[in-house]
Amino acid sequence: MGRRDPAVLDTREHLIETYRKKARHYDVTSRLYPAPGYPQRAQRLRAVQALGLRPGGTVIDVACGTGLNFPLLQKAVGPGGRIVGVDLTDAMLARAQDRVKANGWSNVSLVQADAAGFDFPAEVDAILSTYALTQVPECAEVIAHGAAALSAGGSWAVLDLKVPTSTPGWLARLGTATVRPFASIDEWITRRPWEAIRAAMQEELADFAWTELFFGTAFLAAGSSQETAG
Ligand SMILES: C[S@@+](CC[C@H](N)C(=O)[O-])C[C@H]1O[C@@H](n2cnc3c(N)ncnc32)[C@H](O)[C@@H]1O
Repeated sequence: MGRRDPAVLDTREHLIETYRKKARHYDVTSRLYPAPGYPQRAQRLRAVQALGLRPGGTVIDVACGTGLNFPLLQKAVGPGGRIVGVDLTDAMLARAQDRVKANGWSNVSLVQADAAGFDFPAEVDAILSTYALTQVPECAEVIAHGAAALSAGGSWAVLDLKVPTSTPGWLARLGTATVRPFASIDEWITRRPWEAIRAAMQEELADFAWTELFFGTAFLAAGSSQETAG
């Protein structure tokens, strides 16, 4: 991880503790995430489709949690493809491992690592992160490291939460109460990580597309490697 600001390390410890508590029931409770009525599965599908994966492809799921994206990624890459799930929290990865075992998938590897220090394998076809990257203070660096590891034409997609543009601060605090467990909500609202993600993706990727979802409370950002095949 290298040298880190002690405040950032404290946040990491707090985050791991929080997700250790959530892991067991995450698959059920997250159905209501970020709010009842949010079309979570449809948005996940949209994010996976944005990757343009083909059978046999390799995809990294950054901060994969319990592996809720894995069934969709499996469908896209098939048994000849490869999925690498990366997450900071041991208990979330243990759930992901249960899912892998229950489905008999032999093409999934799980890595316990901080996304901020993760050494992306070279020449990956796609990188996905859902509902996680805005929790990582170094999100722009994660985008850049991932973009550097993509194969020619490879793609990066981020699906995450944001505060709607025209929302007053008090309403944002109320509406984003789901974010409260993992960080100070004020810090999250002030830091505006979705803007850092947008700027980094615009800088690092070609064909950048930004779509606001669910009244501006979520976004899907996607782009592809600037390198051309040849
Ligand atoms: C809300 S869950 C989302 C999990 C999964 N991506 C999904 O869509 O269901 C956030 C996940 O991000 C992970 N996480 C948070 N910060 C991280 C970091 N710096 N590096 C790796 N994983 C991190 C947590 O451990 C947790 O599993």
